[in-house]
Amino acid sequence: MPKTVLITGASSGIGKAAALHFADRGWQVAATMRDPDRADATLRRDGIRVLRIDVTDPASVQSGVQAAIDAFGAVDALVNNAGYGLMGPFEAISREQAARQFDTNVFGLMEVTRAILPHFRERRAGVIVNLSSVVGRLGIPLGALYNASKWAVEGFSEALRFELEPLGIRVKIIEPGPIRTDFFGRSMDIARDPDLPVYDAYADRMLAALKRSEHLMGSPPGKVARIVYRAATDGSPRLRYPAGGLAGPTLLLRRFLPDALFRWFLSRAR
Ligand SMILES: NC(=O)c1ccc[n+]([C@@H]2O[C@H](COP(=O)([O-])OP(=O)(O)OC[C@H]3O[C@@H](n4cnc5c(N)ncnc54)[C@H](OP(=O)(O)O)[C@@H]3O)[C@@H](O)[C@H]2O)c1
Repeated sequence: MPKTVLITGASSGIGKAAALHFADRGWQVAATMRDPDRADATLRRDGIRVLRIDVTDPASVQSGVQAAIDAFGAVDALVNNAGYGLMGPFEAISREQAARQFDTNVFGLMEVTRAILPHFRERRAGVIVNLSSVVGRLGIPLGALYNASKWAVEGFSEALRFELEPLGIRVKIIEPGPIRTDFFGRSMDIARDPDLPVYDAYADRMLAALKRSEHLMGSPPGKVARIVYRAATDGSPRLRYPAGGLAGPTLLLRRFLPDALFRWFLSRAR
């Protein structure tokens, strides 16, 4: 019996690459997205069912998860991939923008997890793979809100695994470095405030540096897809998986370099 994975945000980038990677390995895939009418043609193939889930809409989460279970009989793995980056000086970010960032990256991920858990508990099996980022482990300039959302994903996942382990359910965290998706184009909310020109020069410099890092260090999304697949299938209790874009070496430096030295290292990125 083939296994089934449900992936959120499968319309593009890492989510789409993961959907194709699992399908290529014989998995059945519930490729969920906000607007199934805009699904990429590559997803229209045997073994992949395109379904609607907007992670900020609890009704669509419930119905999308149920539709995946009904379509394939069971779900073995959930990949919480949907997300976007709210970047900019903290003072320029409105309360609404901040709430929207957490609604998608954190509460949305929790909502899908909540919806799948009764099914996983009943089966006493399941893997939850959460897309964090290297910025879930280290702060970057202009990342106060995006960083905070990914740190929340890290804390949530690290704690959750304790209560789910005895039920046969594993939790995994994927930590990509810069990946060559259209994240910087389609999935960035850049906050600016015309009343705060004091941040402009700094923000311009840092945004340019971020784009450069994607260009210089970026890995293709297929690399992350392979690591997502490994995390879902290796059967190990391992929690964290750095994934592409020099994520492994960067996190090693973060861990072992004194704070001042690491800050200096990051500042070289300017
Ligand atoms: N690219 C990187 O450098 C990088 C690095 C580290 C971590 N990540 C993480 O990897 C994940 C995927 O990003 P990506 O690089 O593949 O970017 P992407 O191609 O822009 O994909 C983001 C996906 O999230 C979906 N999404 C956004 N809000 C949603 C919502 N409310 N409900 C359902 N889906 C929603 C988007 O769907 P629509 O088509 O509807 O907009 C899109 O499919 C994100 O969690 C991101 O934070 C990316």
